Amino acid sequence: MRAAVSRALAVLQRVTRDPTLVPEVWRKLHGRLIARRYQRRTRLYAELAVPCVDGLARMLDVEPAVVQTVMNGEPLRGYLADLEAYRVPQQARAMGGAAFLEVCYTIVRLTRPKVVLETGVAHGYSTAIMLHALEDNNEGELHSVDLPMFLPGVAAFTGGAVPPRLRASPRWELLVGSDRQVLPSLLKRIGLIDCFLYDSDKSYEGMLHTWRLVWPHLRPGAVLVLDDVQAHDAFLDFVGALGLTPLIIPKPARQGVYRWDDVYYVGLVRKPQT
Ligand SMILES: C[S@@+](CC[C@H](N)C(=O)[O-])C[C@H]1O[C@@H](n2cnc3c(N)ncnc32)[C@H](O)[C@@H]1O
Repeated sequence: MRAAVSRALAVLQRVTRDPTLVPEVWRKLHGRLIARRYQRRTRLYAELAVPCVDGLARMLDVEPAVVQTVMNGEPLRGYLADLEAYRVPQQARAMGGAAFLEVCYTIVRLTRPKVVLETGVAHGYSTAIMLHALEDNNEGELHSVDLPMFLPGVAAFTGGAVPPRLRASPRWELLVGSDRQVLPSLLKRIGLIDCFLYDSDKSYEGMLHTWRLVWPHLRPGAVLVLDDVQAHDAFLDFVGALGLTPLIIPKPARQGVYRWDDVYYVGLVRKPQT
């Protein structure tokens, strides 16, 4: 009860300071109220999921051994160990958990994107791992968008897990604001995107809105990593409307930076070449 009141007060303070956030707050609330409408096929996530190495190999059209070499390679293991050692500040404990980092790193290493877009930064685990991958490629830039959670004091810790050297990298820009506020002008500015990690608003409408907004800005052959798709049918509806076969992989749990017990799922999409 106390937590709910302090959360409500934090929301009130934020929207008083920045009234442009009112629609975002309403959308999040509304999304929760109507969530059940879009949960008709969620059992399919577990049924359709394939092991992550197989899913990546299929999407990237490479042998599983190629994926395994990057995933089990020394640089990635070292970066993950560093991220695991990041001590989350007390005030920021409620900030969202990590995306599927091994998948993000492997995709960036194997596809060598020039332009990467990420929505949802929080502690910045995925930001850090993709910046490492871009550094290892010696090319590419990452544009990250994040609207910090509506909790007092958390905004100061956005991207806290990103090592200082990478934070200062000219390869990275962080834009603070909601996807809906920030993306229209960002998408116009950065040109065609090669790789898109979505890990921000987890509502049905939020996901579909952003995926549809970004889709025309993706280069043919671009790769999408859509985190935490299990809560509703958005991913299945999205790929269904595009006539694509859903490719779903389970996320790790109870290990390393993946500190939760439940199994979550990631949707993978490759934009057709034509
Ligand atoms: C799961 S966390 C991201 C974790 C991050 N990708 C990582 O691997 O560490 C989700 C983040 O998205 C932010 N977020 C939620 N709704 C958003 C929206 N509409 N626009 C932008 N960011 C949003 C949350 O406040 C939170 O910081």
